[in-house]
Amino acid sequence: MNRLLGTLTGIALMAGLAAPMAARAEDKDVIDYRQNVMKTLGSQVAILGAMAQKKIPNDNFAAHLQILAETAASAKAAFTPKVVGGKSKATIWDNSADFNKKLDELVQVATAGATAAKAQGAAAGMPRLTCKGCHDVYREETK
Ligand code: HEC
Repeated sequence: MNRLLGTLTGIALMAGLAAPMAARAEDKDVIDYRQNVMKTLGSQVAILGAMAQKKIPNDNFAAHLQILAETAASAKAAFTPKVVGGKSKATIWDNSADFNKKLDELVQVATAGATAAKAQGAAAGMPRLTCKGCHDVYREETK
């Protein structure tokens, strides 16, 4: 009987420990997801910038603007779960309509840029991306 109780207590303890561990892992996954989305945006801007400055061949200028637009659109889902952490300010989830509007703006600007670039290539130029407008409000200062 004592052994059975001991085993049951052990199982209960393990279950109790496992639950918070799973919750932490999920939060980390959520933060990783949105940070990876943002890194993808950063990569596209780096590529587009090098193309605009003619440092690398610019045949894929329109394609990278298209990738940027689609990545920005995917950011909405990445930021939907309220997980305060990383460099995200909690105000994102108090003002989610405004936050999503800022993402929509970026999607629109990048999509318009991609459409122009499909017609004229890199000569269409780099659209005025609105990254900073959101970072200034919703991202913690880089420490
Ligand atoms: C609507 C708001 C918003 C827009 C628009 C936005 N960002 Fe971000 N970005 C954030 C937030 C919030 C974070 C912090 C994420 C975190 O750490 O939880 C972030 C983080 C980043 C990071 C750091 C990722 C890391 O952890 O290494 C990069 C790079 C980045 N953004 C690039 C961009 C670029 C480039 C654009 C424009 C093409 C852009 N962002 C547009 C909100 C935005």
